Amino acid sequence: MDDMIYHLAGLRDGPVWRKMPPQIRESFSAGLPETGIAPADLYAEFQARIQPYVTGNTHPRFFGWVHGGGNAVSMLAELLAGAMNANCGGRDHVGIAVERQVIAWAAAMLGMPAATSGVLLTGSSMANFCALLCARYQALGDAARTNGIGDAKLTAYASEAVHRCVTGAMDMAGFGAAALRKIPLDNSFRIDIDALRRRIAEDRAAGFTPFLIVGTAGSVDTGAFDDLAALGQIARGAKTWFHVDAAFGALAALSPSHAPLLTGIGAADSVAFDFHKWAQVTYDAGCLLVRDPAVHLATFAQTTSYLAAAPRGLAGGEPWPCDLGPDLSRGFRALKIWMTLTAYGAEALGQVVDNSCALAQHLAERIKNSNRLELLAPVSLNIVCFGIAGFSNDQTLDLVADLQEAGLFAPSTTTINGRTAIRAAIVNHRTEQHDIDALVDEILVRTAMA
Ligand SMILES: Cc1ncc(COP(=O)(O)O)c(C=O)c1O
Repeated sequence: MDDMIYHLAGLRDGPVWRKMPPQIRESFSAGLPETGIAPADLYAEFQARIQPYVTGNTHPRFFGWVHGGGNAVSMLAELLAGAMNANCGGRDHVGIAVERQVIAWAAAMLGMPAATSGVLLTGSSMANFCALLCARYQALGDAARTNGIGDAKLTAYASEAVHRCVTGAMDMAGFGAAALRKIPLDNSFRIDIDALRRRIAEDRAAGFTPFLIVGTAGSVDTGAFDDLAALGQIARGAKTWFHVDAAFGALAALSPSHAPLLTGIGAADSVAFDFHKWAQVTYDAGCLLVRDPAVHLATFAQTTSYLAAAPRGLAGGEPWPCDLGPDLSRGFRALKIWMTLTAYGAEALGQVVDNSCALAQHLAERIKNSNRLELLAPVSLNIVCFGIAGFSNDQTLDLVADLQEAGLFAPSTTTINGRTAIRAAIVNHRTEQHDIDALVDEILVRTAMA
């Protein structure tokens, strides 16, 4: 316990990321141990072969993808949850009560009704998938659960910037990825509302039935927010399900200055988001909210004698989470979320959002003030995409890999209008302005030498 507390306290002193040496990688191909080893030896193995080689997203100079930094309260909650080893698939116990409170807090945070249903899942990939199944149920009813979707010509709509997991969800739900119509972006990297309207009309004329509109609140590439109010209105007019992928953007609701970006989310039929990103809960902690509890339950519930709920006793307490999602056995994921939210409060988490966005603006300013760096997308939130004047895509990829392998910084990359961009997603509550300045200075030094 002491080691892990000191580990978190001393993150700055270590590298962001260390590549596994070949002998360490190789050591994980050893066979299943026949006999056990002493706890002290096991801990020594952990220290030597595991702890040094993790992703690095706890580090204040990790800017890659959209990774949360975690927090010490959540770490301790995982220990407590492990000791209780509760199975939160169902039954009448406190694990379910804690999860329901977390869901109620999440619904209130986003302005959804108090009766909103929900379930905690691994992450937004699963939450988006489960939301899409709810939309499928709304469109096709029980028949789709029993017989599949048959030859229903259902179509869904999202922007070209939609996360790949929504495409994957269309595939997994049996619609096929092509049934997701990817609508072009406007100049602010948001869904083009007029193009969406046109595509829906064209599809109807061609005999398709639009059943789902997905808005993105914080796109993975650039952090752009679709106009959720406009999407909700179109969805109501077109009688489709309105889902919002707010994987990291949902937490903007806790920041008074950024909450307006989410205007309209309260009217969504479903929302997917993560506590493991901006809320700094340790992985994994995804959340699905569904406005109509009856549709949510009808999408997943099954009746089996060995899992029948009872009016009293331990088998009481319906509805059970196993009837609100695909998992039967589930850990006490809610505890680390509940403890994080209780320990720090909504205001402090809103400040994390504000700080990250202020740092992103600072990075954008440094880029604008440099004649070597170029901003490649507007900075609407906490993601900054930039390039280096005169650098090829391969040179940019090499530079990012060099920074990572040196253990100095971990930005990631993406493609903006055909150009490879260095992408800094500022999510970690430990990141400070000097970390951003150090990133820019290091890139300027390295590119001056190129
Ligand atoms: C906009 C968006 N949607 C969905 C996801 C997938 O979330 P998860 O990694 O929690 O499955 C991400 C991940 O970064 C994301 O940024």
